[in-house]
Amino acid sequence: MERGKEEITVKMAKKEAEDDAVHIEGTSEEEEDNFIIAISRVSAAISGLGNLDAILSIGLDTALKSLDGKAGGVMLLDEESGFLSYRVTSGLSERYSEEMFMKTGQGIAGKVAQSGKAILVDDISAEHNATRPDLISLEGLRAFVSVPLKANEKVLGVMNITSDKPRTFSQRDIYMCKSIGDQLGTAVEQSRLNERLRRGRERYRQLARRVIVAQEKERKKIARDLHDETSQILAGLALNLQALIEMAEGKDIQDRQFMDILKKSHSFTVQIHTEVSRIIADLRPTQLDTLGLVAAIRQYVNSIVVSQGIKVHFDMEPIEKHLLPEEELSLFRLVQGAVGNIIQHSEAENIVIFLKQQDDNLVLSVSDDGKGFEIEKLTEMRERGRGYGLLHMKERMTLIGATCNVQTQPGKGTTVKAFFPLSGKATVKED
Ligand SMILES: Nc1ncnc2c1ncn2[C@@H]1O[C@H](COP(=O)(O)OP(=O)(O)O)[C@@H](O)[C@H]1O
Ligand SMILES: [Mg+2]
Repeated sequence: MERGKEEITVKMAKKEAEDDAVHIEGTSEEEEDNFIIAISRVSAAISGLGNLDAILSIGLDTALKSLDGKAGGVMLLDEESGFLSYRVTSGLSERYSEEMFMKTGQGIAGKVAQSGKAILVDDISAEHNATRPDLISLEGLRAFVSVPLKANEKVLGVMNITSDKPRTFSQRDIYMCKSIGDQLGTAVEQSRLNERLRRGRERYRQLARRVIVAQEKERKKIARDLHDETSQILAGLALNLQALIEMAEGKDIQDRQFMDILKKSHSFTVQIHTEVSRIIADLRPTQLDTLGLVAAIRQYVNSIVVSQGIKVHFDMEPIEKHLLPEEELSLFRLVQGAVGNIIQHSEAENIVIFLKQQDDNLVLSVSDDGKGFEIEKLTEMRERGRGYGLLHMKERMTLIGATCNVQTQPGKGTTVKAFFPLSGKATVKED
């Protein structure tokens, strides 16, 4: 019995290698048509459905129909534990699908998972190798086909088709089952890769969020230290120097060089104080808390470009939706980053800041009429350690659920644009 069964498996494997899915000997045209229909049905499910269970169910259902099977199921292999267990079933009792699991190498399905080769049993109730004869007999299973679900020669599970009568499956049956098994194997692999990708993205997002939170915390601390110590001392120093000037003038000191140095020292101190205040404002945009996003952007951009000889045009409307502080801060940081780039790289004469609600999005864009750049070169730049500003802006937007893109071309200016979805946000109450 065992020997005969092995032979069928081996014969089939040979057969497949020879004709490679072209035409199976002894198959009528109608059977071939059915075969093609079955395979396309599974293909359509794979390309049309995102849900693995739904795909497996259609694969199973198709195999059951074409083999005239009574019940069956798809078992998936857990790579870590090496156990096979049912993921979807049809016509099998709950008890059977819950209790029937086995290690690779055990029972019929376990052997299929181990060898990667299909096994056919004319009557499994007479099979002493079966894992749970009690369940098999309870379920009334007789003829049994188990085919591997393979992707890239790796077995990811098995599909079992059974019948309540002993019977011999034809070559066509096995071929059909194997083909569906291969299709399902690819779908399982694809779904696992997608899941791994999704988890990778999620981990990356969490990491990015932590980096941003840590960065904001550090910025706050530096801003506070600068404000409480450096800035206060500089303010005191400027006042002292001003007092010294007044004293010297009061005493009518005629030493020009002395007076010049004193006045220059005062003016340097005032300059440094202004610069430190600007750095503090950059590090911790307190205007956001007091003025709100629109006014804070206006004030910040005006203060920053005033010394650069660049004209700023604002096209902004009040935001009627309630934004969270971190959302406002991220949008503000986008403006900071984009304006910083304009000053540093663009040689622009004009900047346009646009902030409006359009449909269900808040659209924020920062455009310039400067020299632009080749966006394709960004990857190269990153290899040299530059170009992380834009990447960082995009990541920050992703974290608040917004999308961000950069439009630019050499000689055509640059626009950094963000779309922040407002759906589900509460409307700000009018005072
Ligand atoms: N507004 C702009 N005008 C011209 N070039 C820009 C502009 N914004 C960015 N760039 C170009 O894109 C590059 C990447 O910008 P970014 O990611 O902020 O990194 P970084 O500013 O550190 O170089 C810049 O080095 C610059 O060449
Ligand atoms: Mg930059």
